[in-house]
Amino acid sequence: MSMSLDVHELPSVAGEQVAGKRVLVRVDFNVPLDDDGMIADDTRIAASLPTIEYLVQEDATVILMSHLGRPKGVRDERLSLHQVADRLSELLERPVGFVHDCVGEEVEAAVRDANPGDVLLLENTRFHAEDSANDPEFARQLARLGDLFVNDAFGTVHRANASTAGVAKYIPAVTGFLLERELQQLGHLVDAPNRPFTCIVGGLKVTDKIGVLESLVSHADAVLVGGAMAFTFLKAKGASTGASFVEDGEGVELARRIIELAEEEECTLMLPVDVVVAPKLAEDQETQVVPADAIPDGLMGLDIGPRTRMLYEARIADAHTVFWNGPMGVFEIEDFADGTRAIADAVAANPGFTVIGGGDSVAAANQFRVAERIGHISTGGGASLALLEGEALPGIEAIREAPQ
Ligand code: 3PG
Repeated sequence: MSMSLDVHELPSVAGEQVAGKRVLVRVDFNVPLDDDGMIADDTRIAASLPTIEYLVQEDATVILMSHLGRPKGVRDERLSLHQVADRLSELLERPVGFVHDCVGEEVEAAVRDANPGDVLLLENTRFHAEDSANDPEFARQLARLGDLFVNDAFGTVHRANASTAGVAKYIPAVTGFLLERELQQLGHLVDAPNRPFTCIVGGLKVTDKIGVLESLVSHADAVLVGGAMAFTFLKAKGASTGASFVEDGEGVELARRIIELAEEEECTLMLPVDVVVAPKLAEDQETQVVPADAIPDGLMGLDIGPRTRMLYEARIADAHTVFWNGPMGVFEIEDFADGTRAIADAVAANPGFTVIGGGDSVAAANQFRVAERIGHISTGGGASLALLEGEALPGIEAIREAPQ
């Protein structure tokens, strides 16, 4: 957590004269889709409104661009941003013009024809492989669409893409309000958090979160582990994990390293003491609670148990700063939801500074109706972890280095 996050060092859209200018805004409209391909949650669209409304009010022509999913350079109608334009239009209560591509003649013409106060949304930037490849010529084509680049896509700030970073080589670049707010709020976790600072980390794999786990055990007073990754830690401590998901080999090795690092750094690393088990991951299974270090053969751990819940709740209640990323169990199935529900309630009840980052834990906070009682809910999953890890964020570096 070495990175300086002083947002005041970064040029902000608030400091720009934007009237009459074409402003190219990178937003993160990578929204979850349901089984029918419809928008399942529009939090990210709603979170981008302050910047868009400000630009409209200031008489700029607003040109929005985003990715959706990972189409890998192939046009895929299921990942079209068309329905996002409709939802944005409802939320903004004004028309949003949808443009069927993000570069080329037709797009340049649409932008030329737009007037100050108009809002256009370009098609998914990842329909072109050049976006993820950060291709300079593609970035130059995007840059031709605006006089100014505003990066408001916090969720994608850890990606060095043409639409997040490359474009800022060619036109002046500034931060948008959502990006600023995220950096400010998450910055409180990085720069001298009020102690005790307790982190709750869950989810599937240790290997996915190794960087942030290292960083958190080095900086937090306590790290509470749940979710499937807890079984890899338990295995590293010599427990019998039954049929639970365990990342044997590298995962167990890394978990062992984190356990050692926590000791060196005097961070309290808490693992489940009991777990809810079932024969398989499905609804209507026969469940039981067993000690976490002795899971019988043929049974798999799918949630933290009641004693673990109490221990974790007590630790969270004592904290002055809390960060939560990743569910404690398979909370989509009611039999395995109690652990995640208990953590959601405990984080919401904490009167200190509380932050939730990561799609699954944000979905849990919404499902358990605690979102309004959380200090900050980040729109970034990978991005918030990268920031806490102290990684350089290409979207931010690009703003620093852009021509002003
Ligand atoms: C996210 O949802 O984390 C961001 O939109 C980034 O998406 P990506 O992992 O596909 O780059």
